[in-house]
Amino acid sequence: MKTVECNTAKTMPMEVARVQSVASITNCMDTIPSEYIRSKNEQPAATTLHGVVLQVPVIDISDIDANEEKIVKEIAKASKEWGIFQVINHGIPDEVIANLQKVGKEFFEEVPQEEKELIAKNPGSQSIEGYGTSLQKEVEGKKGWVDHLFHKIWPPSSINYRCWPKNPPSYREANEEYAKRLREVVDRMFKSLSLGLGLEAHEMMEAAGGEDIVYLLKINYYPPCPRPDLALGVVAHTDMSCITLLVPNEVQGLQVFKDGHWYDVNYIPNALIVHIGDQVEILSNGKYKSVYHRTTVNKDKTRMSWPVFLEPPSEHEVGPISKLVNEANPPKFKTKKYKDYVYCKLNKLPQ
Ligand code: OGA
Ligand code: NI
Repeated sequence: MKTVECNTAKTMPMEVARVQSVASITNCMDTIPSEYIRSKNEQPAATTLHGVVLQVPVIDISDIDANEEKIVKEIAKASKEWGIFQVINHGIPDEVIANLQKVGKEFFEEVPQEEKELIAKNPGSQSIEGYGTSLQKEVEGKKGWVDHLFHKIWPPSSINYRCWPKNPPSYREANEEYAKRLREVVDRMFKSLSLGLGLEAHEMMEAAGGEDIVYLLKINYYPPCPRPDLALGVVAHTDMSCITLLVPNEVQGLQVFKDGHWYDVNYIPNALIVHIGDQVEILSNGKYKSVYHRTTVNKDKTRMSWPVFLEPPSEHEVGPISKLVNEANPPKFKTKKYKDYVYCKLNKLPQ
């Protein structure tokens, strides 16, 4: 049986410099430690197309039953051309989103550091869940200006409450409520992605793991950074998930690579930002594109975001859906277990 270890030994797993504490030390300086300084070809100041805010497609799904055909077309077009879009009028009450954000912010800002470390990820652990700071082998050993918390929020059988904050006390309820509401949107998204490829409504979700699809929540905490021109939050990547649904706070930071440039993505209050991830690109045999994105940080303000990665169960095999493959369209991707895909991606091995 798989055991999931958040740091139950009640010790600091090791001396990991949390970005939140680095930020509080560098607060009055105009420099940052060199491990956070990106090479010239990655630095946001040198690589962002300034003065242009990217208007990624905005899709209103309020009347999806009446307007299904139109909405399916919009979602399919955005997923083919951009790999990212924003959904408005998605049905999740503003207050449910506000609560999710409130309890997450309280965990990072009001819970004492020692208590946060109690749910820190153990370095040796296979599991991604827990509080942490990315130690992933990044290009040239550089670090991102961000701390995070990962835990699953659905299905109930996958949840490991030991990795959930105990404080604030309403953390659990707020997250459970969000998970419950999010499920309806997720079902809608998978359904539209299916119909958009001429499949039956249930086929895409079924191929991704059906009712066993795991909802992995991440909270990104990007403290103010004295040199936002030199650092990055999350380095450029595509998500490994099927799709990712993200709630940002109001601080600008998400960037998308399009037509050879990095652009800021516009912020829309209460919208959900939908990213097409690698697994949907594979399932669709390349029709839908996983979006290449990264985040920048802010000089004075803390940015936070709450992506939920929808992942196939680790033993589930993912490959191009057979109806989408024929002699004229041979499979562009291998069929493999999701856990094997993750292993190759994290270790930068060919898929
Ligand atoms: C991520 C990510 C974007 C953001 O955590 O994978 O891309 O807006 N985050 O924080
Ligand atoms: Ni991402």
